[in-house]
Amino acid sequence: MEHDFWHQKWSEGRIGFHQMEINAYLVSYWEKVDLAVGAKVFVPLCGKSKDMLWLRGRGHDVLGVELNSNACLDFFKENDLVAKTEDTELFVSHACEKLNLLCGDFFALTSESLSDVKGVYDRAALVALPMEMRADYASKLIELLPKGVKVLLVTLEFDSPQGPPFNVSGEEVKNLFGQRFKVERLGEAVDGDRQEVVWLLSD
Ligand SMILES: C[S@@+](CC[C@H](N)C(=O)[O-])C[C@H]1O[C@@H](n2cnc3c(N)ncnc32)[C@H](O)[C@@H]1O
Repeated sequence: MEHDFWHQKWSEGRIGFHQMEINAYLVSYWEKVDLAVGAKVFVPLCGKSKDMLWLRGRGHDVLGVELNSNACLDFFKENDLVAKTEDTELFVSHACEKLNLLCGDFFALTSESLSDVKGVYDRAALVALPMEMRADYASKLIELLPKGVKVLLVTLEFDSPQGPPFNVSGEEVKNLFGQRFKVERLGEAVDGDRQEVVWLLSD
């Protein structure tokens, strides 16, 4: 997906992916990731997801990356948080206590920026990307993440080639991540004509 596609969605308010409530799979399955209080959690393609607040409430340091600057700014405004903004070479960082949203391109991240990450929460990130970008996304995550990181991943399975969101089969999840991670299917639930599937990826 081109950057303009997402910027247009945000500027037109076509953000049906944004959830007003905390994601139920996050609440049910996060304990499987089994991280210590204070451990840093990376949220790729984070939008203005309230799930980041929940993770912070569990004592984690949260690092998000999001392309659209209004999404980043709205996250702080809508949650009554005041961010300190700093320009770096590739990203603009908006940060407050235990929350840092890097505004910029996920594919520009370096392993240095994620060197102290212990966990990853991917909801509506992998499935937001078309197939050829999903392969690049998975390779980049694998390249960036230090050893021992665990990933909670939510995918969607349904019978259509259209997206986003895109259908991502269990076989594809194993192909994308199986070379690095043990891939465990934790659970699934039917939502209309889609099946939502929760995965734990661990070393
Ligand atoms: C489907 S939304 C999901 C947002 C969030 N994960 C959630 O659960 O609400 C995908 C988000 O990824 C952002 N995005 C797309 N491509 C990106 C990229 N290359 N780098 C950073 N963010 C990106 C979009 O702007 C959009 O906010």
